[in-house]
Amino acid sequence: MCGIVAYIGHKPAKELLVEGLKRMEYRGYDSAGIAVLNGGLRCIRAVGRVAVLEDKLTTVDDLEGTIGIAHTRWATHGEVNEANCHPQQDDKHAIAIIHNGTIENYATLKTYLKGRGHSFTSATDTEVMVMLISELYQGDLEQAVRAALKEIRGAYAIGVICANEPDTLVVARKGSPLIIGVGAGEYVVASDASAIVAHTTQAFSLDDEQVCKITRDGFRTSTLDNIAVTPEVRQLEIDLEQIELGSFDTYMMKEIYEQPERLRLTMKGRIKSRDGQIVLGGVSKFTRELVRARRFVLTGQGTAYHAAMLGEYLFEDLAKVPAKVEYASEFRYRNPIIVDGTVLVAVSQSGETADTLAALHEAKERGALTLGVVNVVGSSITRETDAGVYLRVGPEIGVASTKAFTGQVAVLTMLALYMGRRRYMSVEACADLLSQFERVPEMIEKTLEQNDHILDVTKKYVDQENWLFLGRGYNYPAALEGALKLKEISYIHAEGMPAAEMKHGPIALIHDGMPVVFIANQGPQYDKVMLNIEQVKSRGGRIIAVATEGDKQIETIADDVFYVPHIADPLSPLLTVVPLQLMACHAAMLRGHDVDKPRNLAKSVTVE
Ligand code: M6R
Repeated sequence: MCGIVAYIGHKPAKELLVEGLKRMEYRGYDSAGIAVLNGGLRCIRAVGRVAVLEDKLTTVDDLEGTIGIAHTRWATHGEVNEANCHPQQDDKHAIAIIHNGTIENYATLKTYLKGRGHSFTSATDTEVMVMLISELYQGDLEQAVRAALKEIRGAYAIGVICANEPDTLVVARKGSPLIIGVGAGEYVVASDASAIVAHTTQAFSLDDEQVCKITRDGFRTSTLDNIAVTPEVRQLEIDLEQIELGSFDTYMMKEIYEQPERLRLTMKGRIKSRDGQIVLGGVSKFTRELVRARRFVLTGQGTAYHAAMLGEYLFEDLAKVPAKVEYASEFRYRNPIIVDGTVLVAVSQSGETADTLAALHEAKERGALTLGVVNVVGSSITRETDAGVYLRVGPEIGVASTKAFTGQVAVLTMLALYMGRRRYMSVEACADLLSQFERVPEMIEKTLEQNDHILDVTKKYVDQENWLFLGRGYNYPAALEGALKLKEISYIHAEGMPAAEMKHGPIALIHDGMPVVFIANQGPQYDKVMLNIEQVKSRGGRIIAVATEGDKQIETIADDVFYVPHIADPLSPLLTVVPLQLMACHAAMLRGHDVDKPRNLAKSVTVE
């Protein structure tokens, strides 16, 4: 989704802003722009990649200022063209704004502003914001921003500069992330820590409806009513190495390979396998409520939804508590019943997904206790939930979520055991699962050793346009995740479903040579899965199986097999998903696609 970066300091702003935009390219965008104060306001914008903007900038020579704002846009209001790019300017070309989010009452405000004589050149809600600021400007940019924001309904993270105030940058947020990096006499503001970390690791976030006026001498943060607040400057939890490719060609592949090391961090200090004990500091204050909860609702979107679905299975199976998974976007609008003792678990990598945030608000409103299972520290979901457990998988740059998925499933497994142990589970049963859980990282390492084989198999099927992914029980959500991975980066049509559901309709699709991926680990439903494989095989489908090491029977029926080590069934998706991630990545690369920047997609979907 859109990315914003702003700078005020002593360095040339242009280079720094372009570098910041490049670091945020992974978020997904369709156009980019930059504005710098250099005597007057200079604004350059371009449709397409940041590289196109960069080329354009080489033809402009008066962009030498040390204060500026820049933006990558993912269109929401108005088509993808230069007029709709950010920065947007007022009609006097004195004030420029960059904006993430959407303004709900922009049409009414636009009519009002037109009546006041303003003329518009774009179809964006953002131009309405800058025009309103201009309308209310009486010589003090901060005041004008504050006054405008009071009139606005919707979500925003903004950066504003004004030709009349060349030493002032004003930023504000509501519902969209904004981080202010604090350097020595310089400030880098961005929607994403990756654009800041090369310059400073000291930063603070704004809370909703807070405004910050920044000059080279310092900053002042306040509410919309101008009450001063003191934000807590903290150390950013990412470093440059984490956001660079290193020896990998793509972030997705890097992140797939990082999973063992990252999961060790997810588990670190949280499990005592010999004692059958789980320690989750982030939820310990609510242990009683969790153990006595009557019902859990787990929610998320996309990959996070698949992890939440596994959470549903884990909570019911291991903690013996009723649980239900729901798409956040559906939960929010369907008037859900929240009985006493309901806990909502919001699962999200970014912690900023608009639908998940909205579901969280709805559940809170109706009295549920709320937990976050989130990766990005300090993100909106973490700030708005009552408690939570961080994934600790480090920044995920690839648009296709991989290490966040295994991190989410690992955290949900620990939460299920945390409650299960305090409800019905014996120390021995818990200790047994934990000792296997602890070995997941080394088992993933072993699975990754098959990468060359997975590439060879992918080559055999990569030209096929329709794939099915089938699994049962715990491996049904893993099958959904495998299908999502393949379709989102390789643009191959892929569907995931319960293996048994196939014969109720989708079996009609099976034709000679169609690749059908079965997750056929040796769990309780192994025999049933084998039966489903026969049904596909006899109709000409080509079987790619993910199976348990040592299973020779599967080789007699499957065309190709990827093996994973033996593990207890509830933990198996943490392994079975890995070959599917690798296969999707290879398929996309073989088809010549940009794996990290798939078409139409954004890393974090902050609009509904
Ligand atoms: O940041 P979140 O985990 O809340 O994002 C949710 C989905 O948008 C995300 O998982 C998406 O489906 C990924 N592109 C899948 O790889």
